[in-house]
Amino acid sequence: HQRKTILDIQQQHRDKIPITCITAHDYITGKFANESNVDAVLIGDSLSMVQLGYPSTNQLKFDEFTYIAQAVSRAVTSKYLICDLPFGSYESSVSKAVESAMKLFQDCDNLQAIKIEGGVEYLEYFKKLDDIGIAVCGHYGLTPQRHAYLGGYKLQGGSKKLQQSLEIFQTCLKLQNSGKVKMLVLECIPQALGRLITQNLDIPTISIGAGKYCSGQILVQADLLGMTGSTNNIKFVKQYASFYDTAIDALNDYDREVKNQQFPGPEHSFMMSKDSYQELDY
Ligand code: KIV
Ligand code: NA
Repeated sequence: HQRKTILDIQQQHRDKIPITCITAHDYITGKFANESNVDAVLIGDSLSMVQLGYPSTNQLKFDEFTYIAQAVSRAVTSKYLICDLPFGSYESSVSKAVESAMKLFQDCDNLQAIKIEGGVEYLEYFKKLDDIGIAVCGHYGLTPQRHAYLGGYKLQGGSKKLQQSLEIFQTCLKLQNSGKVKMLVLECIPQALGRLITQNLDIPTISIGAGKYCSGQILVQADLLGMTGSTNNIKFVKQYASFYDTAIDALNDYDREVKNQQFPGPEHSFMMSKDSYQELDY
């Protein structure tokens, strides 16, 4: 496949074809994504939980993230590839954000954009990054890096929070109107708000729990594939496969067959014939 670029994504948006995006958190899930029909891959800092077992994205160190981001990037050769700036790698200054973004671009083979959680407080950052040729994807609504500050992973905006809904809408407009944000992830907001934002923006909106009217969707791959065995309580996740159960079943089959002396069978074993060793390349 030819690599998808920002131009392909923008054309697809003009053609009103929903943009599919999926996260990847290691070389294998990078491969899955790369071989699938999805349009874009995000190296999301959710890998802090699904790959490294941390309780949230806040424990993830930049070096740990970079190490994994490199592995993912080696697998993703044909998709539009976006990478998060993880917690602690950008907030303190514009130059820190530039350094972190540059490091990711240097270390990851095929990176095309970086994503930053937040609103107008980062407009200066988006301007600098865009001006030096690093495409920025925004992320607003629920911003998981601030889950502690927000008191949890909660719906943002809504009919009982009209002021907050208005603020989210206005912030999204400001991000787009800065001209420095190429696309915008909207997380965990009511569908009607996702629709209002999408109808009033020209840049693509990518929903995770922001409803069907956004320009595209994103899910965490481990959730979609049912890899973690514990995501059924997240409303916006649809689990399309059950890798967790499949894996445990397979491991139990293996355990049973070894204990029953069914595995390894003759087809998995090297037999010594009378006059020669059977040599196998494997
Ligand atoms: O880290 C992540 O996985 C994300 C999204 C799913 C948007 O930021
Ligand atoms: Na993220």
